[in-house]
Amino acid sequence: MGSNRFAGKVIVITGGAGGLGAAIAHEAGRQGASVAILDTNKDAIALLVSELKAAGITADGRAVDVRDGKAVTTAMNELAQSLSGIDILIAAAGGSLGTPRELDDITDEDLDLVLDVNVKGTYYCARAAIAHMKKRGGGSIVTFSSIGGRSASPVTGVPYAAAKAAILGLTRRLAKEVGLEKIRVNAIAPGLFLTDRLAGMFEKLSLVEREEVLSAIPLGRMPELRECVDPVLFLASDESSYITGAVLDVNGGRLMPN
Ligand SMILES: NC(=O)c1ccc[n+]([C@@H]2O[C@H](COP(=O)([O-])OP(=O)(O)OC[C@H]3O[C@@H](n4cnc5c(N)ncnc54)[C@H](O)[C@@H]3O)[C@@H](O)[C@H]2O)c1
Repeated sequence: MGSNRFAGKVIVITGGAGGLGAAIAHEAGRQGASVAILDTNKDAIALLVSELKAAGITADGRAVDVRDGKAVTTAMNELAQSLSGIDILIAAAGGSLGTPRELDDITDEDLDLVLDVNVKGTYYCARAAIAHMKKRGGGSIVTFSSIGGRSASPVTGVPYAAAKAAILGLTRRLAKEVGLEKIRVNAIAPGLFLTDRLAGMFEKLSLVEREEVLSAIPLGRMPELRECVDPVLFLASDESSYITGAVLDVNGGRLMPN
């Protein structure tokens, strides 16, 4: 992996203080990027930004709720000012956000939360970042779908499935819209990656459900975080310069769509 692949590039990572986001932040920085973190978790942002800086990486962050379109635009403008532009957006803020899996347990508020953070949040962040990418003459956006939006997951519920499927439509239409601006938009659809949060969720599954997940993975093992980070950074980088509107499934073969 070229260690200076992102030299001179500014990468914004939403949900950047989370499990996958922080791993992406460290690796992008290691490969030369300046890194900006957007997340709601103020303390985690502060800790991560100081870790990145200690590793010699230019970094900044803003505490913002991606459901607030105006606040997202303001934060994105401030980060573009402080880091001299935006080249790459990794829109990782999202998840099932602690909402229940079973239909009878899901409240209307749960449904709104999952759809708003994942779908509208991705939309607002992409819209705000695109304005800056146009000024740079191009860019790359990676959105976060999920195996749970590509098929019926045993782990997450209906709102998550709907939100992560919607992100694919958003990704394709956006890719069509900004292609001539040399901005590429692709989705990553990870299988189960055991970040701290998901390790807890996985442990709570019954033995049968856990076995169902593992036995359905042709590679026969759970992945390391790096195995999601590298495909995300591939889509973010010029190595994927002729790929747009695509979805990259990263699931050990658990789902093999046509
Ligand atoms: N880990 C997996 O197995 C897996 C699988 C498929 C898809 N994904 C997707 O990958 C992305 C990252 O997942 P993760 O496992 O790192 O989750 P995570 O919970 O560790 O991180 C998510 C981050 O998003 C932030 N966030 C939540 N709501 C927000 C909001 N309204 N505004 C701004 N930030 C907000 C959280 O503070 C957290 O830091 C999510 O979109 C998730 O759905 C993860």
